[in-house]
Amino acid sequence: MAPPVALMLVIVSAAAAAALLLAAPAAAVLPKVEHAPEAADGSLAILVVGDWGRRGQFNQTLVAQQMGVVGEKMDIDFVISTGDNIYDDGIANTSDPLFKESFSNIYTAKSLQKPWYLVLGNHDYTGNALAQLDPAILNVDSRYKVIAKSFMVNSGIADFFLVDTTPFILHYWNNSKFDWRGVAPRDTYIANLLKDLEYALTESKAPWKIVVGHHPISSGCGHGNNTELEQLLLPVIKAHRADMYLNGHDHCLQRITSRDSPLQFLTSGGGSKAWAGKFKATSDKVEFLYDGQGFMSMRLTKTEAHLAFFDVAGSVLHCWGLTKTAAGGN
Ligand SMILES: *[C@@H]1O[C@H](CO)[C@@H](O)[C@H](O)[C@H]1NC(C)=O
Ligand SMILES: *[C@@H]1O[C@H](CO)[C@@H](O)[C@H](O)[C@H]1NC(C)=O
Ligand SMILES: *[C@@H]1O[C@H](CO)[C@@H](O)[C@H](O)[C@H]1NC(C)=O
Ligand SMILES: *[C@@H]1O[C@H](CO)[C@@H](O)[C@H](O)[C@H]1NC(C)=O
Repeated sequence: MAPPVALMLVIVSAAAAAALLLAAPAAAVLPKVEHAPEAADGSLAILVVGDWGRRGQFNQTLVAQQMGVVGEKMDIDFVISTGDNIYDDGIANTSDPLFKESFSNIYTAKSLQKPWYLVLGNHDYTGNALAQLDPAILNVDSRYKVIAKSFMVNSGIADFFLVDTTPFILHYWNNSKFDWRGVAPRDTYIANLLKDLEYALTESKAPWKIVVGHHPISSGCGHGNNTELEQLLLPVIKAHRADMYLNGHDHCLQRITSRDSPLQFLTSGGGSKAWAGKFKATSDKVEFLYDGQGFMSMRLTKTEAHLAFFDVAGSVLHCWGLTKTAAGGN
């Protein structure tokens, strides 16, 4: 005789719990930074920039100045970098002069003297990929927070999940310039990373879940989609109903809405060299695409998000809002 349904559920959930317990020691917890918003009303304000560190060249300085102006107006809590922080090959060590020339001496505005939470891009990986994570960098500039290659920033109303996407991209593994220390072998690294991300997303209580990586999942700009991320990362993000995926790599500003989930694919990769003039066809819905320089801003309350893209002159190119019901949907 088959066991009654209720008993079957007990058996199944007991088995699931046992499986979790067995899995627990292997699943590492993503390093986490707590960063509560400063505003009295609990809203969070941030800027997002990517693909920038070129000693001020290619309008990096102009973009930085306008970030300073907008950052002041919005009274931002922090800045997120979507990677390719230092061209062409990251930094050689924590005293490499390139770091000050491309970061400290450029983002000098008062409003930008806040923590910067950064992921690494492929260009950060072709030098000493560990140097930007070295705590000694904080002695050079205390804003520069690459807590780990993948980590979380919890700000109460939003959880940001910063994901190291460079190891996903298969063709990089054929290029001897990449620094895979602490990463190789690829498959194990990615499996562990996805397990940790999945666990962190499951545990997240924040109304807004925002995933950040360097490489686009879906993009209509020059580089286009990364199929490795579409296959491996996207299902995890979708299953946990993340609200946004923020990336750089494509040197443009772009907003794409997914056709089959609430996810928004947002590219902010206009920190310096842009004007690529190259586009890729995509079946996702491209709401906005600008192939010049600029950055993105975001203000979040528990139920509303206000986002905008700015150009090199500080003009708003595109702005939009998202709302979330109390039940957590959108
Ligand atoms: C800098 O921005 C201006 C627009 O203000 C643009 O015309 C120019 O081409 C940009 N320069 C570079 C080097 O990208
Ligand atoms: C750090 O890197 C710079 C730039 O490559 C180099 O000139 C310097 O000698 C290096 N310093 C140390 C301590 O290795
Ligand atoms: C890497 O190189 C090997 C040997 O040349 C080749 O067979 C393989 O297709 C390359 N893989 C990628 C992803 O480029
Ligand atoms: C890019 O990825 C998105 C999300 O998976 C997908 O909807 C779209 O069809 C892809 N575009 C191409 C050209 O493969």
